Amino acid sequence: MIEVQNVSIVYGSGQGAVPALEDISFSVGEGEMVAVVGPSGCGKTSLLLAIDGLLRPTSGRILIGGEEVRGVRRDVALILQDAGLLPWKTVRGNAELTLRIQKRRESVDGILSALGLNGFEGRFPAELSEGMRRRVGIARALALRPKVLLMDEPMANLDSLTRERIQNLILDLWWEMGFTGILVTHDIEEAVFLGQRIVVLSPRPARIRAILENPGMGEHAYRGSPEFLERAQGLRRILEANG
Ligand SMILES: Nc1ncnc2c1ncn2[C@@H]1O[C@H](COP(=O)(O)OP(=O)(O)OP(=O)(O)O)[C@@H](O)[C@H]1O
Ligand SMILES: [Mg+2]
Repeated sequence: MIEVQNVSIVYGSGQGAVPALEDISFSVGEGEMVAVVGPSGCGKTSLLLAIDGLLRPTSGRILIGGEEVRGVRRDVALILQDAGLLPWKTVRGNAELTLRIQKRRESVDGILSALGLNGFEGRFPAELSEGMRRRVGIARALALRPKVLLMDEPMANLDSLTRERIQNLILDLWWEMGFTGILVTHDIEEAVFLGQRIVVLSPRPARIRAILENPGMGEHAYRGSPEFLERAQGLRRILEANG
């Protein structure tokens, strides 16, 4: 479904050039959920922007459904690191935003209620908790019924209970909607909870350190099981290794 082939991204040129990604290759099957983990600043957001078609790789290519990505596609949705809500629009207005830009008339009621936001449709972002704002960002992306959902740390800086609640929700929605997902995170437990496979990146410029299989993923109860803890420990060891 998604093929990332030998992708490198360099910002700027000459003396000031900043290499962000170096020769990244992996693929994500249809309906699969892959977590991408790596240290802060290694190039995770750059990778997602490239998959979304917002940033052109310096070299290499990215295919979705066999076609090279050359711009933003209607069947791919991206959840930004800070939810990206417009403060002057209501919950409903924000959730509908991309649909309406695409001149689509579908209702967002179902998705708002699946995310526990019913009753808040008329509120503004400033009137919501951070966890609710994140859920509005998720609603905006899911309202598009995307084939591919790209998530850039949608749970970062939330308290641990809210975080787990939203992780559970994403898992449920994945089962229900069957999208192909890439979740970027620097959180080890989150990657193990939500990644059927886990792509581990090195510090900047990001290279692939390992790709781990995580067959236990898929149930709420996986969290905290011995297999889960073992997988998390293995992932921690790879992230902590030098070089
Ligand atoms: N527009 C840009 N111009 C120049 N350098 C950039 C630009 N965007 C990102 N970078 C640099 O590229 C590197 C990777 O950035 P990126 O945002 O992709 O990392 P990240 O893994 O998402 O970080 P974080 O974990 O903090 O979200 C960083 O060193 C950053 O300074
Ligand atoms: Mg980032």
